[in-house]
Amino acid sequence: MSTIISPSVLSADFANLERDIKMLNKSQADWIHIDIMDGQFVPNISFGLPVMKAIHKHATKPLDVHLMIATPDNFIDDFKNAGAEILTVHFEVCTHLHRTLQSIKDKGMKTGVAINPHTPVSLLKGILNEIDLVLIMSVNPGFGGQKFITDSIDKVKELRSLINELNTKTLIEVDGGVNLETGKQLVEAGADALVAGSFVFGSDNPAKTIQNLKNL
Ligand code: DX5
Ligand code: ZN
Repeated sequence: MSTIISPSVLSADFANLERDIKMLNKSQADWIHIDIMDGQFVPNISFGLPVMKAIHKHATKPLDVHLMIATPDNFIDDFKNAGAEILTVHFEVCTHLHRTLQSIKDKGMKTGVAINPHTPVSLLKGILNEIDLVLIMSVNPGFGGQKFITDSIDKVKELRSLINELNTKTLIEVDGGVNLETGKQLVEAGADALVAGSFVFGSDNPAKTIQNLKNL
């Protein structure tokens, strides 16, 4: 299977979102990564439901939604209604993670769990069979354009062996500081999906950059 590429619209031109979404529709991107930040869980605010709905109106690819918010349980219906296909919550804020994942499934979405750089992969052992996608954060969440944390490569390897051991179908996605160099290392370590924001939208030819990531 070739690598799933999920460009992050956090680095798109918000004044030209329709143009940028149409570019992604025509590109080899598989998903569209939507970063929702609340200024509580992370020290930044991105955009919310109305903007996501506007993106959904134009997008022809699945919306891969990354909730960096302190209270995801309060918004599961809202994100379903706004067009989420994969709904990823942060492990660090979910006291009742099993219940949260059931709610996401009940709404017909795929379940994602994100882990911060300090959160060990081993904590997912007891819940992995409920998770469609683990999002390994390779930067501290909150901002685009940060430096890749190299320890993330070992986390991908560790998660890959846990998935093999438990025989689940969980996908491994990595988010933060992804470019051709780090992307290649991540794919070799066992990543299924790569998120890339500034590397795609900061390049002269974003569609070509997506293709280059796809061909890793
Ligand atoms: C960071 C977000 C990322 C961000 C990645 O908190 O979760 O999805 O857009 O940006 P880059 O690819 O620029 O590191
Ligand atoms: Zn993200």
